[in-house]
Amino acid sequence: MGVAIAEAALARGARVTIVAGRVEVPLPEAATVVRAERTAEMRDAVLAAVIDGAADALVMAAAVADFRPATTATSKLTRGDGLTLELEPTEDILAEVGGRARELVPRPVVVGFAAETGSLERAPEKLRRKGADLLVANDVSEAGSGFGTDTNRVVILGADGSRDELPLLSKREVADRLLDRVVALVDEHSTPEHTASRPTEAP
Ligand code: CTP
Repeated sequence: MGVAIAEAALARGARVTIVAGRVEVPLPEAATVVRAERTAEMRDAVLAAVIDGAADALVMAAAVADFRPATTATSKLTRGDGLTLELEPTEDILAEVGGRARELVPRPVVVGFAAETGSLERAPEKLRRKGADLLVANDVSEAGSGFGTDTNRVVILGADGSRDELPLLSKREVADRLLDRVVALVDEHSTPEHTASRPTEAP
């Protein structure tokens, strides 16, 4: 889904940086690609692109691991000893960028994804918790939706309370419908009324 969004944005003339973890489809050559294996590396690369690179929008389509092992073994683990893994939470990249984006003028548009199974009822709360402008929610247990398919059925929730239920579409069509919303918000965020209401730094 992330690659479909990158391709659709490139087709509209955008400059695109893809921060890629494990991706199973080819990445568009016209994009700048930054590889990130660990969540901490992905966080640094996303912050560099959005904050330092002054991006107009972040679309956070990555399925980021929520936990990582708390310690790393320096020697071989032997089977006879048994093993209990202690996990610690990873950095929440979207929540951090969503929070920091509020201090920027113009404020970048922040889009999150929520892959749920069975029900999308937690999605509005997730949108608020992550500080996103839009949240693309889908039920990945539904046939033709989510990972490893060319199609997706999503609901786009807006921070303004809007709820746009899209039919089953190709991922490229979902990408274009999403980008229509993103472009409208980028325009909104750069209007004088919007930029004037943002906090500015003291001289
Ligand atoms: N995300 C992130 N950093 C993480 C985990 C998730 O930036 N460490 C982003 C995902 O890329 C996605 C959004 O947050 O855009 C929602 O991810 P999801 O896994 O659905 O939510 P969680 O934060 O894991 O919340 P929960 O476990 O309650 O579902």
